[in-house]
Amino acid sequence: MSSSSAFRQPVPLDRAYRLLNHGPTVLVSAATQGRRNLMAAAWAMPLDFAPPKVAVVLDKSTYTRQLLEQSGHFALQVPVRAQIDVVNALGNVSGADAQALHGRDKFEAFGLTPFDGPATGAPLVEGCAAWLECRLLPEPAIQARYDLFLGEVVAAAADARVFSQGRWHFEGHDDLRTLHHVAGGHFLLPGEALDAQALSPIPPLSPLPAPQAGGAARGRA
Ligand SMILES: Cc1cc2nc3c(=O)[nH]c(=O)nc-3n(C[C@H](O)[C@H](O)[C@H](O)COP(=O)(O)O)c2cc1C
Repeated sequence: MSSSSAFRQPVPLDRAYRLLNHGPTVLVSAATQGRRNLMAAAWAMPLDFAPPKVAVVLDKSTYTRQLLEQSGHFALQVPVRAQIDVVNALGNVSGADAQALHGRDKFEAFGLTPFDGPATGAPLVEGCAAWLECRLLPEPAIQARYDLFLGEVVAAAADARVFSQGRWHFEGHDDLRTLHHVAGGHFLLPGEALDAQALSPIPPLSPLPAPQAGGAARGRA
C-alpha cells in the first residue's frame, strides 16, 4: 500500500460532511389525518442493534417533519438507481408547495405507487430496495436544537434480489443499486464487493520489556 500523505489535502469545513455523506440516501415518509408526504434524506444512520434504532436529520422547513411529529411514526426506505430522478425531485420540492405540485400530493405528482406499511400504516413506495417502519422516539430538545429525529424500527423488509442473509449483493441487478448522494444531485452507486481477511497485529522485532508492577494502572489514571 503506497503512502497517501503526498495526496492529502485540507477540506474546507463546510464541505467536511461530504466525506461521510455516501451512506444510502433514503426516502422519509409519514402520514397523519389523511395527509401523506415523503422527502429525500442523505443524513440517516443506524443507532442501535436491539431494539433497533435509527436517526435522521429533518430540517424545520420540511413538511415531512410536521407529519412525522403529529403521527409519531415514519418510514425510511432505500431507493435505487432506477429512481434517481424522482429521488432528486422529492428532495427539491416540498409537499407543502401545492402550486408546484399542481394541487396533488408528492406521491401522485411524481407517479409513485404507495402501499401501507404493515406495522405502522406509514406510506411506503414500491420499487425501493428496503423499507424500515419506525416509531418516533420523542426527544423534543434534540429535535428542536439539532433537527435530529430518533426512531425505533418496528418492521423492516428488503428486496431479496439484492439483500438476503443480512447482506447487500447487487451483482446482476444494476438498476437496484442504492443511491449515495454526494451533493447537488450527484450520486455514487455501490461498486465492487470485498471480504476482509483476518489480520493479526504485527509482533515486535525484539521482545517487549516486562511491564513494571502498577505501571499500567498508573498509565490509565
Ligand atoms: C439527495 C438529497 C438528500 C437530502 N437530504 C436531506 C436530509 O438529510 N435532511 C433534510 O432535512 N433535508 C434533506 N434534503 C432536502 C429535502 O429532501 C427537501 O427539503 C424536501 O423538499 C423536503 O420535502 P418536504 O417539505 O415535502 O418534506 C435532501 C435533498 C436531496 C435531493
